[in-house]
Amino acid sequence: MTETDRAEAEVAGSVREMKERKEAAQVAGERKGWSEPMTKTQRNDILTAPLVEADPEVSDWIRREASRQNGQLEMIASENFTSRAVLEAMGTILTNKYAEGYPGRRYYGGCEFVDEIERVAIERAKRLFGAEHANVQPHSGSSANLAAYFALASPGDVIMGMRLDQGGHLTHGHKVNFSGKTYSVVSYGVDPETGLIDYEALERSAKEARPRIIVSGASAYPRRFDFERIGKIAEEIGAVHVADMAHYAGLIAAGLYPNPVPHAGVVTSTTHKTLRGPRSGFILCRNELAGSIDKAVFPGTQGGPLMHVVAAKAVCFGQALTESFRKYQETVLLNARTLAKVLLNRGFRLVSGGTDSHLVLLDLRDRKVTGRDAEAFLEAAGITVNKNAVPGDPRKPAVTSGIRIGTPALTSRGMGPDQLELIGNWIADVIESGGAEDVIATVREKVAELCSAFPAALG
Ligand SMILES: Cc1ncc(COP(=O)(O)O)c(C=O)c1O
Repeated sequence: MTETDRAEAEVAGSVREMKERKEAAQVAGERKGWSEPMTKTQRNDILTAPLVEADPEVSDWIRREASRQNGQLEMIASENFTSRAVLEAMGTILTNKYAEGYPGRRYYGGCEFVDEIERVAIERAKRLFGAEHANVQPHSGSSANLAAYFALASPGDVIMGMRLDQGGHLTHGHKVNFSGKTYSVVSYGVDPETGLIDYEALERSAKEARPRIIVSGASAYPRRFDFERIGKIAEEIGAVHVADMAHYAGLIAAGLYPNPVPHAGVVTSTTHKTLRGPRSGFILCRNELAGSIDKAVFPGTQGGPLMHVVAAKAVCFGQALTESFRKYQETVLLNARTLAKVLLNRGFRLVSGGTDSHLVLLDLRDRKVTGRDAEAFLEAAGITVNKNAVPGDPRKPAVTSGIRIGTPALTSRGMGPDQLELIGNWIADVIESGGAEDVIATVREKVAELCSAFPAALG
């Protein structure tokens, strides 16, 4: 029996069991002479039919997406393949439960079990990162940042973050985002020569602008953040250091990237990137900020938590505490370093000249091929990446001169440095050829072969 057959048999078994229970309850009702507001068939059809029967259209798109995920090389640095246990927790009846408030202090009845689930998630998050307090309710990384700023600053206050085109995230003060619209923003970036954060310039601007918050962390910075140094600068000017570790959380949990927790008043994160959990967010902070952070999440910026996702976060944190997760992260890092080495050997430029994390940023400023072209050529060859501005990019944001390439998802498929060496060379072949059809076709064939040798665990 294959994995898929087994999964289908399990689904069929539980659907059958549910139908039997419903029918038994129906018979019991009939014996008592209760009237039925809907016929048995009407009610059971909609409540118990499996997705493939209840909604073949949506079911088919999901099946096709699963086949896409399996049939190409996923190298978007912010994506990953989560585990069966995380997926299972997300697909549970916990989605039925409203639980506004916090464990032991809810605005709804019937929270005794979800309280325990949230407590487990909180305790594991604290243990994983050595934090004093954890809030596991933010729906996403952006919601976590929204709540953190809401807790620490007032509209119009100055906040400081890394500029989007230097590697930062929209929520770190970009003008189209709530962060740029609500606060007055001062940005920092990298040294154009080295591609490394210019901490002296950061310190000078911080002392001049005296922001309420200094945000560290990024979406496209391959090197280590000096969280300690940013923490000290923030302390000197009376600002709060908010470290957004969304991209690096898995590596940090494994002890392979600096932990911001000792150096930041507040740490925000997603759970679905290197951390390999459900699509969501969370916040860690010092005890003295716990009350303000909790109030800023609920009722400040969110309503009821998604308890099925909170359960999946608990599972993800539990998995991240294991030795096998640490080994996984070591391979993520080794794979990214291997990829960097291959691309450098092939004569490509990388922002900062390499990586200390799960991603590399290819700098195409010296090439005719733009970031947008490279993304399209590679997609045609079965390799999914995203175009990304590089520091000092002369091209427009919709075109760019870079691509960001990450290794977390391929590593979850079991690929190692041997495969990354092949893939790095294929990437170089496709870009160097300027998207030549024969090169794309050859690479596509090799990609398909590699994908069948390393199937994604699920789907
Ligand atoms: C550094 C950083 N912070 C926050 C976010 C936002 O996360 P979400 O997409 O879950 O809102 C991202 C997403 O890419 C990110 O890279």
